[in-house]
Amino acid sequence: MAFDTVEEFRTKRDEAVEFILSETSFQPEYLLILGTGLGQLAEEIDVVHTISYDQIPNFPVSTVESHAGRLIFGELGGKSVVAMQGRFHYYEGYSMQQIAFPVRVAKALGVQTLMVSNACGGLNPIFRRGDVMIINDHINFLGDNPLIGPNDNELGPRFPDMSEPYTERLVETAENVALEHAIKLHKGVYLAVSGPTLETKAEYRYMRQLGADVVGMSTVPEVIAAVHMGLDVLGISVITDECFPDALEPVSLDDVLEAAAMAEPKLTQIIVGVLEKL
Ligand code: HPA
Repeated sequence: MAFDTVEEFRTKRDEAVEFILSETSFQPEYLLILGTGLGQLAEEIDVVHTISYDQIPNFPVSTVESHAGRLIFGELGGKSVVAMQGRFHYYEGYSMQQIAFPVRVAKALGVQTLMVSNACGGLNPIFRRGDVMIINDHINFLGDNPLIGPNDNELGPRFPDMSEPYTERLVETAENVALEHAIKLHKGVYLAVSGPTLETKAEYRYMRQLGADVVGMSTVPEVIAAVHMGLDVLGISVITDECFPDALEPVSLDDVLEAAAMAEPKLTQIIVGVLEKL
């Protein structure tokens, strides 16, 4: 599914929004996207309402087993949030517009800030499995962009500025929270690839030389849509495997999930801490 016209997009979005509003009048200010193996954060939410993706008109349905596939509305860190437990990846066959769709719907529900997490491979040699990194910039190597096609000028500009996709104020707040909790926190560049293959040694070497600190298969489509609509963005990566080309070990999904589970409490502390400070 891609949208051929602005009208088609608006109709589909409004159907999703109207359905959600018929289920709950809760008004979230923050959209949290919980990455692979990072759905536990949802346990901390004071839940007001949940809706599974397959109930929502025009919503994509998550095909990855490690993703639950529901929207959770409630309070976290004293703020009104909606969390996506389970997200959509390009490698599943969704279009970039489909991956961005939930962010569009969230904006229509009143969301002003996107907080997005992901599992990723560490390219920076000082990063270790289980470490956490605040994303302060990205490289889009997906070979696609959710803004290709007709532009809805009511949502955002044709040529969105990308000089600060990750809101500096939120990056600083996250760093302060990490300091207070004595969490080792890196800061760096996320490079997005389509997957589903992991990278070859030659690709890891190349990506490192390009200036990336981590590599993953998500996040950038949602961030582009958020920036297009003027949302503030906080991005947090959990390093689930070490991608050092000269000492590369094979990686399985189980390894990724284990490392994500290991790092999850740090992610939760940072996100809750940031929400409390805002
Ligand atoms: N590469 C791409 N995506 C990933 C990786 C990786 O090494 N680890 C977790 N997601």
